[in-house]
Amino acid sequence: HRHLLGIDGLTAEQITFLLDLSDSYVALNRSDDKKTSLLRGRTVINLFFENSTRTRTSFELAGKRLGADVINMSVSSSSIKKGETLIDTAMTLNAMHPDVLIVRHPDSGAVKLLSEKVNCAVINGGDGSHEHPTQALLDAQTIRRRRGNLQGLRVAICGDILHSRVARSNIQLLGIMGAHVRVIAPPTLLPSNIERLGVEAFFDMREGLKDCDIVMMLRLQTERMQGSFVPSIREYFRFFGLDRDKLQAAKPDALIMHPGPMNRGVEIDSELADDIDRSLIRDQVEMGVAVRMACLDALTRTLRSNSEERTAAQAGGA
Ligand code: CP
Repeated sequence: HRHLLGIDGLTAEQITFLLDLSDSYVALNRSDDKKTSLLRGRTVINLFFENSTRTRTSFELAGKRLGADVINMSVSSSSIKKGETLIDTAMTLNAMHPDVLIVRHPDSGAVKLLSEKVNCAVINGGDGSHEHPTQALLDAQTIRRRRGNLQGLRVAICGDILHSRVARSNIQLLGIMGAHVRVIAPPTLLPSNIERLGVEAFFDMREGLKDCDIVMMLRLQTERMQGSFVPSIREYFRFFGLDRDKLQAAKPDALIMHPGPMNRGVEIDSELADDIDRSLIRDQVEMGVAVRMACLDALTRTLRSNSEERTAAQAGGA
């Protein structure tokens, strides 16, 4: 693959390759000397049309630790604010010869459209409610390092499934890797065709969490609910917020995850989010850097081998 636009289309072997590669970067990130020169001379541009803390920062760190030059484009201070279109912005950046563009956009499909107009590799940093592939990879890596394997695990994804690209990418990846996925949400926040994705749907937390190994909570994305039904926070927490009482329905050693940003007291009880025995939220952030290093490494392999061949041919001709 030239780009990483989604989990859809990846095989179990490709996912395992990326997770195995990430393991080596976890070790590097925990060492004193975190820097390599693998991507020396390469340019990575972060182009984010939506806010981000984790994805943008971890891609920046990932690129820098691999030795690339990393540029962060701030949309708020760019010519997009003067009316330049997504495609014109992409073509402009493309003319500067970047090697990798990481793009986040509020519209589903916008990153794929952009990838068709540029020469470099494109990584989807989250497009609308469609896909967030590196989040699913880092979640898989977090689970795999705790539980050894994804195969056969029962994973509940809970909350605002309707607006969640994290849910869609995770459903696909976990399914490919042989986990059993359930979704738990109020009917208003569950897409009507969700069972087509091969998941079991529940409207009650205690029923859905029964015997689960992993409980993945999602943020209530009120910014995507304009004009539609917005639940009351108090009611939402009462019925769908994760607290110790509801968690008892899951396996006694069930682990809690949240992609962030997290709204404490809305979808998750604050004390449970900080429970170091049950919560993997900080591990997820750590794995985010390693997984993104693996993605940058893997996507630039063809570029790197092409330029090595060119150098060898030039040396041979001299
Ligand atoms: N999980 C995630 O994508 O977080 P950011 O929006 O902070 O990047």
